[in-house]
Amino acid sequence: MARILLTGSTGYIGSHTAVALLEAGFDVVGLDNYSRSLNGVSRRIQEITGKNYAQYQVDLVDSEAMTNVLAHESGIDAVIHFAAFKAVGESSTHPLLYFRNNLGGQINLMQACDQFGITNLVFSSSCTVYGNPEQIPVTEDSPLLEPESPYGRTKAVGEALLRDWVKSNAAQQGKAKHVIALRYFNPAGAHPSARIGECTVGVPDNLIPYITQTALGKREKLTVFGNDYPTRDGTCLRDYIHVCDIAAAHVDAVNHLLNQGSLTAPWSVYNLGTGVGQTVLEIIQAFEAVNQIKLPWSFGPRRPGDVIAVYANNRKAVDELGWQIRYNLEDMMRSAWNWERMQAQDPLH
Ligand code: WQD
Repeated sequence: MARILLTGSTGYIGSHTAVALLEAGFDVVGLDNYSRSLNGVSRRIQEITGKNYAQYQVDLVDSEAMTNVLAHESGIDAVIHFAAFKAVGESSTHPLLYFRNNLGGQINLMQACDQFGITNLVFSSSCTVYGNPEQIPVTEDSPLLEPESPYGRTKAVGEALLRDWVKSNAAQQGKAKHVIALRYFNPAGAHPSARIGECTVGVPDNLIPYITQTALGKREKLTVFGNDYPTRDGTCLRDYIHVCDIAAAHVDAVNHLLNQGSLTAPWSVYNLGTGVGQTVLEIIQAFEAVNQIKLPWSFGPRRPGDVIAVYANNRKAVDELGWQIRYNLEDMMRSAWNWERMQAQDPLH
């Protein structure tokens, strides 16, 4: 049974991917420092799958702790690196926190992979590396413009570090490395069981959790940041993709690395989006229609750092990884609301 190490295993995408990997028959080893998630998520992953897996509390910036786990958990066939802070707004006010955590942790992980001979890695990247694209939809060959936030910078630099890392290995005699970067668009929704979802600490940065907390009455009303953008209704446009479809893409990427072996390029990149864009107003309307809820909202000023419009050309992931998108916008709106209500009834600790 192939063994997969997940960093950030109890986070939003990490936890859904842990479920998908366990259900696909992989052995999973999880690392997380629980700074942005809750240890109770690990119990929920085991509850959903009926399978146990090894979960450690480790901060990647503590390279000794990470080395100890890898010395103990031998035979890792691939690593999926999720662990990173991801709030666009927070990164603009705390850039050094993001550089140290996201890039420092990644460099420690890369060193540990070299030390323990781990040569397959999947990197959690982001559509923010495209900046404010001049042409949409974006393909993987679209120019990587200036990221709009320090968060996006850590993803762009993170990809560049990995490109140099695989190249350096091509020069040395060591076993060739293979890295796949998955560029997520806007993850949304929750597992159909409503037992895992997006855990937010404090006031949510992102649109969907702010909507569900407003619907629950936890927030007084939603503010729509800007209504004078050059889009079909004046609000920003994004490509919202169900978190379970993103998780499935990670299983496809690991299978690609393990089954294609030396046939895979040392470095490859895939867009994970639906290929359809929705505006903020269209998301609000979809949420209200699916859940039969009237949401209190009003327009406010633009949010600094917001990209005007971005959505994916996802053909490459479909054609090369065999990725299949199984969920639609209604599923995202329904599962996000179910998760919010579950959290209110039976909160994670
Ligand atoms: C979406 C739209 C806001 C909150 C996200 C992730 C980032 C990355 C890319 C993966 C914007 C508007 C929001 C609110 C609003 N994903 N909005 N009122 O900024 O696209 O970034 O996707 O790596 O990690 O953060 O997502 O949900 O913050 O904003 O009007 O209260 O919703 O202005 O137009 P964003 P978001």
